Amino acid sequence: MTRRDFGKAATTVAGTSLLPAGLVQFARAADHLSIRRFPKGFVWGCATASYQIEGGANEDGRGETNWDVYSHTPGKIHNNDNGDVADDSYHLYKDDVQLLKNLGVGAYRMSLAWSRIFPTGKGQVNQKGVDYYDRVIDELLKNGIEPYVTLFHWDLPTGLAGGWQSRDTSKAYGDYAAFVAKHFSDRVQNFMTINEFICFTDLGYLVGQKAPGMKLPPSELFQIRHHGILAHGLGVQAIRANGNAKTKVGLAENPNVFVPVMETDEHVEAAKKATRIGNAPFITALMEGKYIDEYLQTAGAHAPKVEAGDFKAIGSKLDFVGLNVYTPTYVRADSSPLGFSVEHFQTNFPNMTSPWLRIGPETAYWSVRNICDNWKMPTLYVTENGCSADDVLTSDGRIEDTERVMYLRNYLMNFHRAISEGYPLKGYFLWSLMDNFEWEDGYNKRFGIHYVDYKTMKRTPKLSAEWYKQVIAHNAVE
Ligand code: GAL
Repeated sequence: MTRRDFGKAATTVAGTSLLPAGLVQFARAADHLSIRRFPKGFVWGCATASYQIEGGANEDGRGETNWDVYSHTPGKIHNNDNGDVADDSYHLYKDDVQLLKNLGVGAYRMSLAWSRIFPTGKGQVNQKGVDYYDRVIDELLKNGIEPYVTLFHWDLPTGLAGGWQSRDTSKAYGDYAAFVAKHFSDRVQNFMTINEFICFTDLGYLVGQKAPGMKLPPSELFQIRHHGILAHGLGVQAIRANGNAKTKVGLAENPNVFVPVMETDEHVEAAKKATRIGNAPFITALMEGKYIDEYLQTAGAHAPKVEAGDFKAIGSKLDFVGLNVYTPTYVRADSSPLGFSVEHFQTNFPNMTSPWLRIGPETAYWSVRNICDNWKMPTLYVTENGCSADDVLTSDGRIEDTERVMYLRNYLMNFHRAISEGYPLKGYFLWSLMDNFEWEDGYNKRFGIHYVDYKTMKRTPKLSAEWYKQVIAHNAVE
């Protein structure tokens, strides 16, 4: 008997209450507190990305990408792993659709590899690449799962000379987006232009931790970031122009999530302000259609060259904002000129097995609230949330990832809080459907709710998959 059934049985017999009125109220309130039911129609899904799962790197005319080059450069990736085979979803996609179906999800967030469709990033379409995505999308629809499609999740065709240093790349992206919308919008309603600006700009060109692994002077970064958001803007325009009346456009962004150290007015206000200033190059620029003064002051002489029309595109109205939510930044109000400061982490602050993934369940609530409080949004989705864990198979072949369940449950409870306060969060995509190529960490960090044996490609549901299936079936976190 579940807690819910017990509560029901204890308080009613054939619809007649056994408890005095006051206690019935109490039982109902307790039930309400322990079961967090999501709104009817809430979208439950899982997320993946092309380079992380597909493999088939040299098949059917796929062009080379920056991640092919980077992962084949010795010393860049843990264990010198690469995505040549990854989860082999290029061949096993039907199995993967069955994993989704078994979970009961209504939606799947996937990304397209630009270089399968345009092998050099522009010019001639590669029909075989298009056919592959037609097959995947049709298979999803056949199984009652709605595809949510990201157009760029970091795998950039190397045929685009200069990569994101070149403004031409933004233009090529616009053309690619036009083709994608024209071809797929009969079956795909929701498109996400780009995944996480900071990772392919700052981490790719300044820090050198992700492809293309460059360490340029900070002064060059402002222009690279600008090309990233310009691509998004041109993409939104192209998708609108080539989609149809049902087409919806957004993006999947990972804003820095500022969590107030205390929920008092001044710290809550500090978190709101920090959200705007701390995300100035990306989400703030998109939402406000400009670079805010604080950002331009920081850039000084290195401020990006902005051409006429750029911000008209960049500030294009979106149908939704997708948030990739992982880890907190704690902030407090203070008397500094900006009015806030960021708290340092104690060395014993808990994290999941990826050192950067500090555990802060309230991040979930504030990710939604800060965005909505700054810029009214009609619709938000969580386009990624999940965690790495050191999954080990038991002797009978199970994965008891209770720590992942703990992480997911607590984050989901906080997303639920945002919904219960009226914030327009409409869906949740768990990262990730299955273990995959975790960028510079190679196959060493597992984020999946299905375990992948990379020798046999066997997928095994972890405890977290069983748990997520229950969440979806009940439309509730218990
Ligand atoms: C996100 C990224 C995903 C995945 C995840 C876990 O930043 O979009 O591709 O790697 O983090 O690290």
